[in-house]
Amino acid sequence: MTWTSHLRPALAGLDIYDSPQVAARARLHANECPEPWPAEVMAELGRRVESVELGRYPDASGRSLRHLLARQHGCDPDAIVLGNGSDEVISLLLTALAGRTSEPSFMVIPSPTFVMYGHSARCLGVGVLEVPLTEQLELDEAVMNEALGVANGAAICFLARPNNPTSSLWDAAVIERLIAGNPGTMFVLDEAYIRYSPGASLWRQDLPGNVTYMSTLSKVGLAALRVGYCIAPPALARAANVVRHPYNISATSLLLAESVLRDFPEVQAGLIARSIANRDRLVALLASIPGAHVFPAHANIALVRLDPPQYASRLADALAARGVLVKDASSLPRLSGCLRVGVGTSAELDILAAALAELVPNLGPDPSQAT
Ligand SMILES: Cc1ncc(COP(=O)(O)O)c(C=O)c1O
Repeated sequence: MTWTSHLRPALAGLDIYDSPQVAARARLHANECPEPWPAEVMAELGRRVESVELGRYPDASGRSLRHLLARQHGCDPDAIVLGNGSDEVISLLLTALAGRTSEPSFMVIPSPTFVMYGHSARCLGVGVLEVPLTEQLELDEAVMNEALGVANGAAICFLARPNNPTSSLWDAAVIERLIAGNPGTMFVLDEAYIRYSPGASLWRQDLPGNVTYMSTLSKVGLAALRVGYCIAPPALARAANVVRHPYNISATSLLLAESVLRDFPEVQAGLIARSIANRDRLVALLASIPGAHVFPAHANIALVRLDPPQYASRLADALAARGVLVKDASSLPRLSGCLRVGVGTSAELDILAAALAELVPNLGPDPSQAT
């Protein structure tokens, strides 16, 4: 008997999520909002960071930021749970909700969707039922309902709207029907990318009792801070806070998040508006690839299907060789032949445009051989 026999068996089959910070000319694989903050804002933020007392702990639950977010959403600050990125919030919610003792708890998610839902659940031993999206990358309402009702019901269902990696904005009426028809399941509405679909948010103060709202600052120009949050019904907010480590958001991140949300919201809105404009350019660029189909893009990413499908991996490799990183999504369910490409800055799109102009005429034989 060695200590390794104590390792959770499920972990052996799971990959480590890693994304090394490799030098690249265009980072279009990471779903960021890379527009640079103006120098004067950065200088002011730098001055404020000088006030952080490095020897002292931050507030244990980020009270002041929770109060600010609560004012923005018009909700009770105690309903808000902060996480070190929404990745941590996902883990907190799953830990809190995997408690049924009569039979194993399980989660339902559409597929493909954000990878950390499934990864976190598998790490915790929560079952995962994946329901493929339709060919049009919409929710399959009938099969979702069937999966949610298996074995006395799913504990939790994550719905990302807009979704990653498809950039799709699922029909709100379908989501509302799923929620109403499955009151024993907690639905997490993940609106990480909602600022890229102005006017489409499903947030409202009187969401049904089996809904938790989740969002993040990562997609709105602040990915470096690692701040995500959820707005949960009281019993779930309490349970998530029980499992949450105290002081999970650093003093610097709390200070910078509050500073930006309170004092520079217009600057932030400007960065997002520029990204939305760049998305139009990205979609046009991808659509100019012969035979390509670009799906409607509602997040700061676009999904393109190439024809024939094997062009996708070839093009991704050839772009990477030119310092342009995109996500090869072609092995995911429903996404044969698909690449996911982030919006990037104007300069990064210039680099993508030049690389495509060079590679696309040579896609046929093997674009990595293009000179
Ligand atoms: C839909 C969705 N939700 C949540 C996250 C996690 O964001 P973070 O942990 O940076 O807050 C991502 C990241 O890509 C995402 O795509």
